[in-house]
Parts: sequence; structure tokens; C-alpha cells
Amino acid sequence: MLALVDIRAGYDTEEILHGLSFTVPPGDIVAMVGANGAGKSTTLKVISGLLRCRRGRVEVDGRRLAGASTEEAVRAGVAHVPEGRQVFANMTVRENLLLGAHAVRGAAVARRTEAALDVFPELSGRLGDYAGSLSGGQQQMLAIARGMMSAPRYLLLDEPSLGLAPLVTKRIFEVIARLASDGTGILLVEQNGRQALGLAQKAFLLERGTITLSGGGKELLANPEVVERYLGVGTAAAAAGRQAAWTAALVGALSGSSNDDGRNA
Ligand SMILES: Nc1ncnc2c1ncn2[C@@H]1O[C@H](COP(=O)(O)OP(=O)(O)O)[C@@H](O)[C@H]1O
Ligand SMILES: [Mg+2]
Repeated sequence: MLALVDIRAGYDTEEILHGLSFTVPPGDIVAMVGANGAGKSTTLKVISGLLRCRRGRVEVDGRRLAGASTEEAVRAGVAHVPEGRQVFANMTVRENLLLGAHAVRGAAVARRTEAALDVFPELSGRLGDYAGSLSGGQQQMLAIARGMMSAPRYLLLDEPSLGLAPLVTKRIFEVIARLASDGTGILLVEQNGRQALGLAQKAFLLERGTITLSGGGKELLANPEVVERYLGVGTAAAAAGRQAAWTAALVGALSGSSNDDGRNA
């Protein structure tokens, strides 16, 4: 179990997270949804040791992390796939993968690479190519694959579908479900809240650094308050309209018709 207990954290003098507590069980997908600036990325930074918390604690399988050390978090079994992908464009796909394996030695590196390519066969022919030459979707796959190289028991995913076309998003979500079914605990931060909630066993709404609602993923999805406050800019009807448009785009993509919405595939 990954557990946050009463986490308070922020930048400079400003407190952003006001006492967060939640857990991510192994094999579960836990979705964290919330508006821009709510503190979602900040939460992930605290867990992965990029940001020191001011109060509270992070525990991984019953062990408390000292905090503020990314190495410690990786060793404890946590991998963070940051927002915006952040692959190194001027390094090859293989070199990017190896960055995720810096704590891994010898034959294990080859095994981990194989496991990552098994999940993302899209990357297997591209190992020698610069990451910058990949499509946006392939870069997101590479970012997740890099996170997998440390064989994490808990994977923190920050807006993995951001900017991706529906079909690529679907593929990324498939992989997330597979990793969870293999036993990895997933903390999924998504701006694409509707799909994240559909996939998640547990979910919560983060508003200005506080959890204001939590429950089963589908339960939150069915909650008119969530739809009003987060998923819909306005009404449930408008949100349903967007979902219908998304579904139509997906069906179009699957049937091979043109689906150019101007976003990066
Ligand atoms: N490095 C930083 N320095 C100062 N303030 C920051 C920094 N990163 C984020 N913030 C502030 O913290 C708040 C939460 O940001 P963030 O965790 O990125 O939100 P979210 O991921 O939910 O959009 C925002 O008000 C943001 O401006
Ligand atoms: Mg963010």
C-alpha cells in the first residue's frame, strides 16, 4: 500500500496541500481529478521525493519515507511519470529507457527493457531513434516505459493523456489497466477525468489542496456534483455532449475514418 497521511506541502511560504490523506493499494487504479492548480502535480512531487512535505508522511508498504529524495522513492518502489512527458529529445529511445534503470544492474536491465517493450511494442523498432522523432503518443509511451524500468510497485502518472488524440489515449489507458492487473498500484492524475474515473477503483476530487469528495471511480462519475464542479464547465448535459463527441471520435478512429482533431497523435 502507498499511503499519504496528513500531507502538508507547498512552495516558499505558500501552503498548497492542506493535509492530504489517501491510499493506493497494489493492483488498484486510484484517480485524482481536479481543476488546474488544485495541487495534483504537487502531490505527486511529494510522493516521489521532488518536494519535501512540511507535515505528515508518505509510507510505502508500511515503511515511512524520509522524503525529499527521489532515489529513496525509487528504491522503495515508486516511479513518477511527470506531466508533459519530458523525454530527452536528443537521446535515443534506448538511452531514455536506461535513464529509468539507473538503479538496475546487469542482466536485469535487459529483462526490464524486454518487459517494457512487451507492454509497448510500438517502441521496439525505435530503440535507436532519437526520442524527439517519436510522435506525441509514442513519447508518452516512452515516458511510461522509462518509469517501468525500475519495476515500480507504484506508478504515479501525471496527465498521461494530455494533448493526445482519442485513439492514442485509449491505448495509454489500456496499458494503465494492464499494469494494474499485473499488480502495480497506479495513482492516475487526469485532466481527462471522465475516462480516468471510468477506469479507477477509487477516486477523489482535489480542490485547492483539499480532498472534497472521494469514492469509487464510477460512483464519482455518477455524482452530479462532480459533473457540475469538475467534469462539466456548466451542466451535466454539456458534459454528456462532450462525452458523445469523444465517443464518436473514437468510433471514427477505430473504423479508420479521418479523425484529425488537430492534436498530436
Ligand atoms: N515550482 C513552483 N513554485 C511555486 N508555486 C508553484 C510551483 N509549482 C506549482 N505551484 C503552484 O502550486 C499550485 C498547485 O500547482 P500544481 O500542483 O501544479 O497543480 P495541478 O497539477 O493540480 O494543476 C498552483 O497554484 C501553482 O501555481
Ligand atoms: Mg499538474
